[in-house]
Amino acid sequence: MNSPHPSWREAWTAALYADEGFYRTGRPIDHFRTSAHLGLFATSISELVRREGSATVVDLAAGGGEMLTALHALLGDGVELIGVEIADRPTNLPPSIGWLPELPDRIDGLLIANEWLDNIPCDVVEVDESGVVREVLVDPESGEETLGSEVDSAWLREWWPIAEPGERAEIGETRDGAWANAVARVSGTAIAIDYGHTRDDRPPYGSLRSYVSGRETEVIPDGTRDVTAHVAVDSVATAVGATIRTQREALGKLGLDAGRPPLELATTDPTAYLNALAAAGEAGELVAKSGLGDFWWLITDTRGHGTLTA
Ligand SMILES: C[S@@+](CC[C@H](N)C(=O)[O-])C[C@H]1O[C@@H](n2cnc3c(N)ncnc32)[C@H](O)[C@@H]1O
Repeated sequence: MNSPHPSWREAWTAALYADEGFYRTGRPIDHFRTSAHLGLFATSISELVRREGSATVVDLAAGGGEMLTALHALLGDGVELIGVEIADRPTNLPPSIGWLPELPDRIDGLLIANEWLDNIPCDVVEVDESGVVREVLVDPESGEETLGSEVDSAWLREWWPIAEPGERAEIGETRDGAWANAVARVSGTAIAIDYGHTRDDRPPYGSLRSYVSGRETEVIPDGTRDVTAHVAVDSVATAVGATIRTQREALGKLGLDAGRPPLELATTDPTAYLNALAAAGEAGELVAKSGLGDFWWLITDTRGHGTLTA
């Protein structure tokens, strides 16, 4: 069982976050589209800020600051906006937006983390031919895998039990701990948004994926591509006492309307019609079935606002 190769968790961490790692050398928007890249997402978040009277918005894993820039245009300087990101501050970010490498100790207002948890590396395990659960090791250059030591994990037993030879899982403990650490700093509302699964629909062979330049590609932790895995959202929610909603439900509560404009508007005000049609298209993308609408919002509301949880 002696392999020269690291565990998936070690290789994944280096691939994304070492000096030459994927997120040190590029921006997410160059590789994939997220809700944060759509202006109406920020419009919905600004609605949440207004309803809850948040003094501060912290965007954890802020990418290129796209959501914060859109929020700044909507909210002005009255609300403190802070991006937390391991990547450098984007050069075109409005000067009043703060940019930090780590979360502040206290957050008074709203904490959002869109598509952060799926990038937190996990140990990956697989059941061998004798029914023993083993750590999966990986060659960072080729992506070739071997099985390592036996793994005994309470998290697996509780959240993602696997027993059949060939079945795999990603151990979500690192995500639970990371989000609990973030939420503990918040007085207000904390929301993690991500793709994921619950105990009823875990993917039997795990969900490791890689993306680069807008397309899915072979999963290799070599630093040239993203490495991601869906989030065990029920486990994370339990760790922080969060309410779970789909993005479709959450954005609906914030008033997002994906309905098409009335056809008469095309005659009476063609420009308004085209603008409304474009907005409906963007809203449709944010709430799409089998798309962004199926993302999970994990909402912890420490002040009992109830905006999204009631
Ligand atoms: C998939 S991207 C999402 C970016 C943005 N939230 C969006 O939705 O477009 C993940 C981001 O998380 C950032 N990231 C990962 N770990 C981080 C950490 N511990 N602190 C701050 N940013 C982190 C990466 O640099 C990357 O920009």
